[in-house]
This record gives sequence, structure tokens and C-alpha cells, in this order.
Amino acid sequence: MLSLGSYFTHQALKESVYQSYDLPPSLSSPRLFISLIMLSTHPANFRARLFFDLFSAFVVPSVVLRLLLRLLDVQFGRLSLAAYGIFILAWAISKGAYTSFKHQRIAEQFGAKTIPCVVGRWPGNIDILLRMMRSFKTSYILDTYLQLFEEYQCTTLNLRILWADNIITMDQEHINFILSTGFKNFWRGRAQKERMETLLGEGIFNRDDDVWKMVGLHHNLNFISAFILIFSEQHRITARPFFARDRFTDFEIFEHYSSRTLSHLDQIASLGEACEAQDLFSRFALDAASEFLFGENLDTLSASLPRPYKTPMGPKGSATQDTWGEFANAFDEAQMNITKRARIGYLWPLLELFRDRNRRHAKVIGEWLDPLVQRALEEKRSLKANGGGESAESPVSDKTFLQHLADSTDNPTIIRDQLLSMLLASRDTTACVLTFVTYLMAMHPDIAARMRAEVLTNCGQHSMPTSDQIHKLTYIRAVIDETLRLFPPVPLNVRESRPSACLLPPSDPSYPYSPTQEQSKNQPLFMPASTTVTYLPLLTHRNKALWGEDADEFRPERWLESETKVKCNANMGMFSPFSHGPRICIGKNYAYNEMTFFLVRLLQRFDRFELATDCQPEGSLPPSEWKERRGRQRIEKIWPAAALTLFVKGGLWIKFHKAETHDN
Ligand code: HEM
Repeated sequence: MLSLGSYFTHQALKESVYQSYDLPPSLSSPRLFISLIMLSTHPANFRARLFFDLFSAFVVPSVVLRLLLRLLDVQFGRLSLAAYGIFILAWAISKGAYTSFKHQRIAEQFGAKTIPCVVGRWPGNIDILLRMMRSFKTSYILDTYLQLFEEYQCTTLNLRILWADNIITMDQEHINFILSTGFKNFWRGRAQKERMETLLGEGIFNRDDDVWKMVGLHHNLNFISAFILIFSEQHRITARPFFARDRFTDFEIFEHYSSRTLSHLDQIASLGEACEAQDLFSRFALDAASEFLFGENLDTLSASLPRPYKTPMGPKGSATQDTWGEFANAFDEAQMNITKRARIGYLWPLLELFRDRNRRHAKVIGEWLDPLVQRALEEKRSLKANGGGESAESPVSDKTFLQHLADSTDNPTIIRDQLLSMLLASRDTTACVLTFVTYLMAMHPDIAARMRAEVLTNCGQHSMPTSDQIHKLTYIRAVIDETLRLFPPVPLNVRESRPSACLLPPSDPSYPYSPTQEQSKNQPLFMPASTTVTYLPLLTHRNKALWGEDADEFRPERWLESETKVKCNANMGMFSPFSHGPRICIGKNYAYNEMTFFLVRLLQRFDRFELATDCQPEGSLPPSEWKERRGRQRIEKIWPAAALTLFVKGGLWIKFHKAETHDN
């Protein structure tokens, strides 16, 4: 394990890396011109991008072969088709080999090494792609990637599927560089935006590079990067005032929706039935967020709840058959489809050539949000018409986020996309943590008892917690952090290097690199330009080299040990459930307050949580073979899965037992 001393040495190293690991712009992607063309087209034009890719993969080599055959006056007759096929394959292989060779050369020139690359048995690593697609269906979350890291004895790896560089990393040094110290070298990128465009459009999660269109095909990349940094802040600037600390000191919204949620739980508990907690917590989070953001409650807590053995499984959890169910279904289906697209890779539009599968879901979601947007715009117009002055002039503290958006633009699509991003950010993440805390309380009754004791000591049995009391609940906070460590709501995420290559800092030396590469341990890694990098906080959070032998165990006490905090502060990539760097989660404080508040109210009333695995829908219990494997999958009683955010497959069915001492 890394000692504290070496953590600080590492910190110094990281800082020097930040200054010295830029490569000259002359080493920009040879695909720079192509990248600029693609960037100048809208991400909704994914079919055009596919056409372009297929053109360069099939048409270019075919034309070259045709010209060659003409020049040499050779004819293949009936074997023409095979000849073209072989030539196209050879073209792709040699292009890949040439790119590798070039990267190797540049890396050596800068004292770096290339990222280790997966070597499959079939051309283009197609066997690896198929193996991954198969294993995604039944394996434990992210285990497919962990196996590859173990196989190749490294923590940052190039999958190079279909000859396209595709980096995965669980290395906290690299995650830290991507998100923070080397932020300017990365963006969300074209590929991710294409996948999310129909659902999130102009929303904050799907934008960063509009400035490319504004400045056109400018050749000074550093200048452009500077512009991008300034303009990508725009969405955050719009949203930030609503997440200032003092807007949350009034916990009335939390109280109102906690109380409605708990009265459902009371009712279900008195019938002795199990409740689908993931669904209920999603409604709680959504109703609270909508009240907070729009000043209007979407009122999903009033719709019918899933019933044990009766409600079928939806794309993630339960799927009730009402208007709310339709909305939740569309929300979840769209996220599942985005994940599927990411797994298929850059050829995903081939499967959606004639039908964008997210269009229908976006329409259902739009039907919920559009009336809210229209109302906000109409209110703005009528305020102006009645000489009520510009509402834009009112202080932000008097407005909701929706009114603030309506004041800043008349474009309903932009407003809707922003709202949807906020709803996604606030519903699925908070609900995920509450779901997993409840699951872990059921698995560890001793921990639940200690949490409850802390709540009763500090907040009493009935009264609503105050902000001061919440800050005193150190054990509850430790439980939340430990849950965020083992089950981060965003378990993996994607960035893309900008069209200029860069170097990643050396991997953390505590990781066991292959012994034959001992001397190259401290070398930086060459990060190719315009390349997707998937980072995997869930694997970093469970890495034994960082967290010790008990990394897979749920042990909230580790957060009460000062060493953990020192380590995490010195090494920001080690624990990053809210991300970090310039795009750190805006709602972090809101989320901690909301989750703690809800847990206080829950534990004041309930003291026992019992998994009702018999209620889990068919196909949602962990496969029996997990028990034979390593890590948490041996003990898991539910199936954690991911589609943008983490969830429990089939929902979390659980019995809540009322505390005898609670008379209400
Ligand atoms: C436990 C709860 C939460 C977790 C774990 C969480 C996690 C994250 C993560 C990992 C990101 C970075 C995503 C990326 O860069 O691709 C993020 C961004 C964001 N989060 Fe959260 N989040 C939580 C709750 C919330 C809440 C409650 C809100 C709003 C009410 C919120 C609003 C946002 C926004 C607007 C961003 C985008 C920031 C940007 O791109 O500049 N989050 N969150």
C-alpha cells in the first residue's frame, strides 16, 4: 500500500506533470482536419458521421485497389469480391499498425510509453468485443473490465476495438488528470454527445464544445482550448446560484416529501408487505427536485406504487402501468439505450439507421416537461405585457431555476434540455444512494442500529433535523460515504481527448505492473488525440492497493479514521463519486443534505430492514455462479447494474419494520 509520504511525493509529481505534460500542437491528431469537419456538424447527425467512417473504411481502400489494378492491368474475375474484402481488411490492419508505430515513436520522443494494448485473436479485436458483449449480460458490474486489467497487469488499457483506440482506466492518477489537473486536454467529445443527443440535447451533461462552431476552423488549438474553458462554464454559471449553500438551509421541501414517502412506507409496513424502495426513493428525489427547481411538484408520489409479485420488471426496476410509469419507463429505456450504444462502439448508428430508438422516449419525456416550459415562458411574457418589469431583474433568490432559465432564453428546447439534465442528475443519483444504503442496512443490522442510535441521540425521535444537527451526524455521513465508495451512482464515465495528443502522468506506483516493465513504471503514457477514454471510479473505489485488503467490505468506520481523509485529500482521484475538477457535481451539498435528512426521518420511524428477495422479479437475482467468484459478487443479494447511473436490477424489494418506540 502507498505510504503517506509517497502520497505527498506523488502530489508534487502530479503538479509538475500538469505543467510539463502538454505536447506541442504540432503533434495534434493527424485526423485533425477530419475531427474539425466532424465537430462542425451537429451531434444529431450521427448518420452522416457513420457514412463518413464507412466511406473511409470501405470506399477509400476500394478506390485505391481499383486504381492499382488498372495501373497494373490485373483482373481477378470471379475472385474480385474476395480480393476487395482482403484488401479492405489489410488496409485496416496496416492503418492500425502504422498508427501504433507512430504513437510508439512520439511516445519515445517524449520519454513516455504507449498505453498497453489488448491483443485479441481476431483482427480488430472482434473476439474481445464479442467476449465483452457476452459478459456484460451476466457478469458483476464492471467485472468485465477488471478481468482485462488483471489479464494485462495494468490499470490503464487500450481496447483498440475495430482498430480504433479506446482507452479504459481505473488508475486514480489518470482519473485525476482527466478530470482536474489535465482538464483542458479532454472534453465530453463527439462520440458521447452523439449517443445522448436525442435525450439530453443542449443540457449541461451534453455540451462543452459549441465554441468550436463559433470560432470555426481555427488552427491555434491552445487559443481554442482557452475559449472552450470559458464558454463551457456557461451552463454552470446559469445553474450555480441555485446551488448556493443557503438555499438549502430551509429543509421544508425535504420535510414535505420525506413525510409523504414515509407515510407510504407506514401503510405498506402495516400490511406486512414489501416495498420497492428504489422506485419509491426515485419518486421522493424527483418530486423534491421538481419542487426545488420548478416550484412545481411533479407529484409522482401520488401515483400508484409497484406491488409485490404483481408489477412487472421495467428496464431498470419496476414498471407501473400508468402515466408516471410511462414517463419513468421512457427515462430508463433511453438511458439503457445510450449504454447499449456505448458498448457497441462507433458503429452503433448501423442499428438505428432508420429509427433513432431514443426519439420515442424523448417524446414521452417532452410531454411531461413541455407544459412547464410553456407556462414559464407565458408567465414571462405576461409579466412584461402587464408592465411588471423584467423578471430578469429580480434577484436570483426570488426565482426558481425554471424562471431563471426562462429569463435567460426564449428557446423552449434549451430550457427543456436543461431541466431534463437536472432531473436526471438529481433523481437517479440520490435515489441510488438511498437504495444502496437501505440494502446495506438490511445486510448489516448492527450498522443500522448504530446509525439509529446516532439519530436519536442528536435529533430525538420526532422532530425535523436542523442543519446543525445534520452536520453532527458523523456516523451517518460515514455510512453515506462508504456507500458512495462501494456503489458510486456514476460508476463509469466517458471523456475524449481533444484533437491534440497529450501525456498521462505515470500510473500510481502502488499498482502491480508487469515485472518485465519495472524500469518503465515511472514513465508517462502517451494519450492519442481524439480518443475515447472510459474511467471507472467504481473499480478505483474498490482497489485493494488503495483501500487495503478490506476494500470490498462495507466498513463505514474507515471514514472515521483520519488516515482515510488525509489520503483522499492528497489524492483526489481515489474517491470521486461527485467527480472533481471544473465539472464537479453542482448538487453535491444539496444531495448530502437531502440524503441525510431523509435517513434521519426514516430511522426515527423504522429500525429494521429486511430484504424480500422472494419479491424480486424473475431474472433480477444475482446469478448463482457469482458465488464462486471473487470480491463482493460472492456476497451480493441483489444485482447492481449500470445505465448512465447505478441501479438495482428489478428494483430493491424490502420490508421496513416500524420501531416499537415510535408511536406515530
Ligand atoms: C448522490 C448524489 C449525486 C451524485 C453521486 C452525483 C454525481 C455527479 C457526477 C459524478 C457528476 C459529473 C458527471 C460528468 O462530469 O459527466 C455530476 C455532475 C452534475 N451533477 Fe451531480 N450527483 C449527485 C446529485 C446531484 C443533484 C441532487 C443535483 C442537482 C439537483 C446534481 C446536479 C449535477 C449537475 C448539474 C452536474 C453537471 C455539472 C457539469 O457538468 O458542469 N447532482 N454529478
